Amino acid sequence: MDTRVHSPAAALGDSGIPITLQLNGFSHTARVEPWVTLLDLLREEAHLTGTKKGCDHGQCGACTVLLDGKRVNSCLQLAVSVDGSAVQTIEGLAESGEGGGLDPLQQAFMDHDAFQCGYCTPGQICSARGLIAEGKARTREEVRELMSGNLCRCGAYTNITDAVMSVLQREGLAK
Ligand code: FES
Ligand code: FES
Repeated sequence: MDTRVHSPAAALGDSGIPITLQLNGFSHTARVEPWVTLLDLLREEAHLTGTKKGCDHGQCGACTVLLDGKRVNSCLQLAVSVDGSAVQTIEGLAESGEGGGLDPLQQAFMDHDAFQCGYCTPGQICSARGLIAEGKARTREEVRELMSGNLCRCGAYTNITDAVMSVLQREGLAK
């Protein structure tokens, strides 16, 4: 029986289509079968397991990363379709703050206790980074609305909004 479709790890390796990404600032080359998603490439091949698999169907936001600076659900992107793109994951954000430290959003999530189990947190933080770059959210209501694709089973929404608002305020972007 051919089990490749059900095994992301088996779909990565020596066969497949060669692709190159700028992954957290470094060039990353891999060979992938055409059905492999960016999420599985990140987790299974690049071992960047900060990006989480929740629904695997574009409905929970746990897998959110930044693709050429824009937030996307990595479970909905085929790896071959993002060949040549820049991808930033939560691990890359961890080194993008002042002096190579935490991103201000990561610090804000800790300061505002914006998680319980933490499973949704990498996706929430990547989504918030993309949201701030979009420049559309200035109020709590707008943050809630524009982060609505990122579900939190623990219901930490109030503190997540507090954390995002604190960064918007610090950057002079809040109303
Ligand atoms: S795992 Fe991608 S949206 Fe849920
Ligand atoms: S902190 Fe547990 S799912 Fe959000």
